[in-house]
Amino acid sequence: MTPQTQQPGAFSAVPGPRGNVLAGVTAEFLRDPISVLERSFRDHGDLVAFPFGPRNRLGKIAVGAFHPDSARQVLTDTERTIGRGQSSTQVLEDMIGCNLMTTDGSEWRRQRRTLQPLFTPKRVARYTELMAAEAERVTTADVAAGGGRVDLHRLMLRYSLRVVGRALFSGDIDDTAPELHRLIPLTNELIIRRTTQLLKPPLGVPTPRNRAFTRTRDDLYRLIDRILARTDAGAAGEERDDIVTRLRTARDPETGAALSAQEIRDQTLLMMMAGHETTATALTFALHLLGRDETAQRSLADEAHGFVAAGGSSAGYAQQRESLGRACLLEAMRLYPPVYMTEHQAVSDIVLGGYEVPAGTAVFLSPWVTHRHPDFWPDPERFDPSRFVGEQDRPRYAYLPFGGGPHVCIGEHFAMLASTVLLEAVVRRFHIESADSVVTFQQTGNIRPDKPVWAQLTPR
Ligand code: HEM
Repeated sequence: MTPQTQQPGAFSAVPGPRGNVLAGVTAEFLRDPISVLERSFRDHGDLVAFPFGPRNRLGKIAVGAFHPDSARQVLTDTERTIGRGQSSTQVLEDMIGCNLMTTDGSEWRRQRRTLQPLFTPKRVARYTELMAAEAERVTTADVAAGGGRVDLHRLMLRYSLRVVGRALFSGDIDDTAPELHRLIPLTNELIIRRTTQLLKPPLGVPTPRNRAFTRTRDDLYRLIDRILARTDAGAAGEERDDIVTRLRTARDPETGAALSAQEIRDQTLLMMMAGHETTATALTFALHLLGRDETAQRSLADEAHGFVAAGGSSAGYAQQRESLGRACLLEAMRLYPPVYMTEHQAVSDIVLGGYEVPAGTAVFLSPWVTHRHPDFWPDPERFDPSRFVGEQDRPRYAYLPFGGGPHVCIGEHFAMLASTVLLEAVVRRFHIESADSVVTFQQTGNIRPDKPVWAQLTPR
């Protein structure tokens, strides 16, 4: 699909949709980005040029890079030739401050090496018991409350909020759920709208859009401050092992420097935003897909029962490096990656996918599209957890729900552990029957079911 000659193709020759004369693909992209990405890959191949705005100096061309080799290059050449997407990062920083996701270069490295020790597999394994306790709570009280008929998405949001809340703050933050669930999609939507605005009036200019942006930002900080204040109040004399406490005592392993109060606030807000809903979405789709696939569900339930019958614990099941539970989650995230697209930027002239790409160009990666690339995923729309069992013969970056390279998701082990614990708890107790054949969803930043995802859970 890309030119095989030694000489790279010119940037102007990268194929792509023409879009509207004045706006390019901006309107379609705002409405339904996944369809634009999928169609462009189908029609134009592994590297696609997307026009945003008019086709003159005022407009911009972004490229979508869908081949695993290009994804590897974009994610692992970080800093030398590829950086964070400038437009989205600046807007994200305006909204949620200076944190791991909004910094690059030496500032990002400093933050990452201070936070990394809190998220190693060994460190995260300490949260298994609290995850198991919360899984028990949702699979007993919360399921029984609805007589077994449950909205999987609601249930999973509740589980992931409790798990993230307890891991971050050692506390129950259930009462923040309505406000948080109002703010997360709103925040994502405002970020996308401002990112795709060609002319951005400074936030101090009181346009209706700017006012909505700053109001939402203030609401977010009020919420996180409320939670942090409560955590402080409960902290006296307690021996605590949560992430916020660790952030307060964390030191840069190279310089010994501590994080400032503002940094702790910003990192905590990011983790709430980045970790809670993504995990709930991954679990919702995994349970929904299992609820439609009797064979996969039976195999998973048999494996989980067998493990416990042989003297293993539920926590032990979830901590295995390989299991059907993990495979089901990985396959669900292949089909429905909660983060369906990430934005990056060429910081110098590069050759990508056989074409010259000038410095300054925005580069999109899309797990959604790459996870369906027919060269690496036969029968890509089929839910088949066995793709993730045993030896796997495909390039590393054919699968990238957590990104990759130095900026790989810091919460990957946490999310996988929390999700496997929950999946095991559900399938060992219940038979799942999904009510609907498809789940429709919004695409504001991440994917998010836009209606209840009903299922009947019947005790086994
Ligand atoms: C299934 C759940 C999750 C998915 C699918 C996911 C996905 C991702 C992806 C794709 C990125 C890379 C973004 C980019 O390159 O622009 C990322 C980064 C990040 N994620 Fe996650 N994430 C999940 C859970 C979590 C959790 C539980 C936490 C924290 C508690 C978390 C915290 C972060 C942070 C801080 C970054 C920025 C890392 C850096 O740039 O150094 N994520 N995540």
